[in-house]
Amino acid sequence: MKIKNICCIGAGYVGGPTMAVIAQQCPDINVVVVDINEARIAAWNDADLNNLPIFEPGLDAIVKEARNRNLFFSTDVEKAITNAEMIFISVNTPTKTYGKGKGMAADLKYIELCARQIAKVAKQDKIIVEKSTLPVRTASAIKSILDNSGNKASFQILSNPEFLAEGTAVQDLLHPDRVLIGGDTSPEGEKAIQALVDVYAQWVPKNRILTTNVWSSELSKLTANAFLAQRVSSINAMSEICEKTGADVNEVAKAIGMDTRIGPKFLKASVGFGGSCFQKDILNLVYIAKSYGLDEVANYWEQVVLMNNHQKQRFSDHIVKTLYNTVSGKKITLLGWAFKKDTNDTRESAAIQVADNLLSEQAHVVVYDPKVASERIYADLEYLNTRLPEQNRQLLTVEKDPYKACKNAHAIAVLTEWDEFTTYNWQAIFDAMEKPAFVFDGRGILNQQEMEDIGFIYYKIGSQRPNFMQSN
Ligand code: UDX
Ligand code: ADP
Repeated sequence: MKIKNICCIGAGYVGGPTMAVIAQQCPDINVVVVDINEARIAAWNDADLNNLPIFEPGLDAIVKEARNRNLFFSTDVEKAITNAEMIFISVNTPTKTYGKGKGMAADLKYIELCARQIAKVAKQDKIIVEKSTLPVRTASAIKSILDNSGNKASFQILSNPEFLAEGTAVQDLLHPDRVLIGGDTSPEGEKAIQALVDVYAQWVPKNRILTTNVWSSELSKLTANAFLAQRVSSINAMSEICEKTGADVNEVAKAIGMDTRIGPKFLKASVGFGGSCFQKDILNLVYIAKSYGLDEVANYWEQVVLMNNHQKQRFSDHIVKTLYNTVSGKKITLLGWAFKKDTNDTRESAAIQVADNLLSEQAHVVVYDPKVASERIYADLEYLNTRLPEQNRQLLTVEKDPYKACKNAHAIAVLTEWDEFTTYNWQAIFDAMEKPAFVFDGRGILNQQEMEDIGFIYYKIGSQRPNFMQSN
């Protein structure tokens, strides 16, 4: 079976870049990305590529090449479903905020709505591809809805989890470590798997395309994210020990990373991991383990998230303690709001919790991020519901100029590792700050010696604290 028309439901951080790359690499496949969010689709269609709803290095050039050639963005969901032989589901699956599994299980409401819509519209056989991260065995729920509420069309469900990391999405899609495709072991299932293999094989070497059964594929995605997040929590746990013992977490990371069994990647201590996947996927895993009565397994993985929460909390506690136990009325500048560099995504960013903690201490928080819009920042805080929205707006200011953001600040906290932060004129920033001038580097990106030579009291996560801070 040769695929000529693909529909992708959901034009977000996963659907948008993934489909742009498929369209660019497969000029003979027509790709339509649909979303119910009209503003988002309008932004994808904006003639000015600076207005794309997602910032990813290299994405604008790919959209420019493929858009209106064989890549289309539309709100006409039904038409796109009707015309496609293969439908990717890339809608959001946030953690449930209500009912059973609240705060743990994935909310599958959007997935179910998609399945029902496909069932209602589809009159011909279709291959449905799960792209969103889903709990294990979601495929059977989708299949049950499709088989029981539709027009007697037949459906094959494939799991094809996304491993792209934001900020490097385009490179990850063009040169994936592997593409994972899980499907049914029946002859029809194998045909569907092959159809999707053929799409990827147009640019991915065959030995990197891995096929499995559908449950292994679904669980592999959760497992990969759990292992990655665990590495970050492990090095962050070490960062706290380093600060007490005089070891330096970067030196420790280098030393252990040279062991080929451990490897050097994903060992950067930070103020805490963020992003839409890590916490959600681990909580999901915890929920699945608990639901099978595997309490020890559940507790083991939950600790990764608890350690991450602790890392964020201890970072903001340390700021407060160092500033003589009060930040009330003091200007504290946060450099970075995105959960990592080179993205405008802020979901679960450590900055949100750090800012919220400082606001509760009545600090005057000022935020500068090169890519995140001010409304996003206020919306992130409002979502926490710690105080009234107007209080957030009173206490927190968003600046577009980093030097202005830092002027008269008592302290600066680096929360995202944007490259531009390392190129600033730190002497000029120091001169314009209140003294003593503190920098809390939650990403370990600034040069300690240079910062101290300028006169800053400089704290880098995972290094021994300056004498002044020892008691904190
Ligand atoms: C992750 C997975 O990497 C990706 O495969 C999956 O598809 C989605 O989830 P993403 O969340 O986009 O991708 O970014 P990632 O690079 O994994 O970073 C996640 C968080 O961990 C960020 O906040 C990052 O700053 C933090 N991190 C990462 C560290 O603090 N230290 C590290 O060494 C690596
Ligand atoms: P992700 O990071 O998984 O891509 P996003 O939240 O960025 O998540 O994107 C998911 C997109 O899916 C959103 O733009 C949302 O409007 C869209 N969406 C959710 N449900 C539906 C639906 N039933 N039909 C079409 N689009 C949907």
